[in-house]
Amino acid sequence: EQAAVVIVAAGRGERAGQAEGPKQYRRIGGRAVIARTLDAFRTHPAVGRIVVVIHPDDGKLFRDAVDGHDVTAVPGGSTRQESVLLGLRALQAEQPRHVLIHDAVRPFVDADLITRTIEAITERQGALPCLPVSDTLKREAGGMIGETVARAGLHAAQTPQGFPFAPILAAHEKAHAIGKSDFTDDAAVAEWAGIPVKLVAGSPDNVKLTWARDITMADQRLTAHPA
Ligand code: C5P
Repeated sequence: EQAAVVIVAAGRGERAGQAEGPKQYRRIGGRAVIARTLDAFRTHPAVGRIVVVIHPDDGKLFRDAVDGHDVTAVPGGSTRQESVLLGLRALQAEQPRHVLIHDAVRPFVDADLITRTIEAITERQGALPCLPVSDTLKREAGGMIGETVARAGLHAAQTPQGFPFAPILAAHEKAHAIGKSDFTDDAAVAEWAGIPVKLVAGSPDNVKLTWARDITMADQRLTAHPA
């Protein structure tokens, strides 16, 4: 059975600067970021239904970017967490066994990473691709170093994050119902709800395009090494 996918793309991309529009619709190597992201999933044999969560104002941007492909789009919410919940609800009728949740702004996700993540999902366990932290970490205290955080055992979380569908939807519904809205990824929602999450190897290429500079660098990289 194939895994369903929720791709969240409803952010305004404020950190990348608004001038040129939300970053998921910016072009890198001549194509919209979101078109690249979608391709990675659409072409994967273990992926079934894909739902993209978009901002209500972005309908035209989205349709232009996906270029006639038949993809389901649903409107998102004011936080990433809310957008994920709306995406999961759109899959509720068909109750997929497993779901991947992915940020549209990670267009360099590759087939092997998707495979590793899907293979680690079970009925009662989620899967999180991540990389060991390589920088030394400092906690700030008023512009000064408050403390150095030991990095041993620390990992930086990526997406796609994979989960058994019913438990992750229930966890999101519960968080929503009690107004708990400070989760920055879905593995944290799972953790909070008591769903164990297995770590799988992430990919150094699978970067998140957050800042204007990330878009420029991604564009340069694709121009130098077309993909
Ligand atoms: O803002 P941030 O970089 O954390 O966004 C991560 C992903 O979540 C992006 O793909 C963004 O479009 C999506 N998002 C969303 N709805 C929001 C905020 C962010 O779908 N309200």
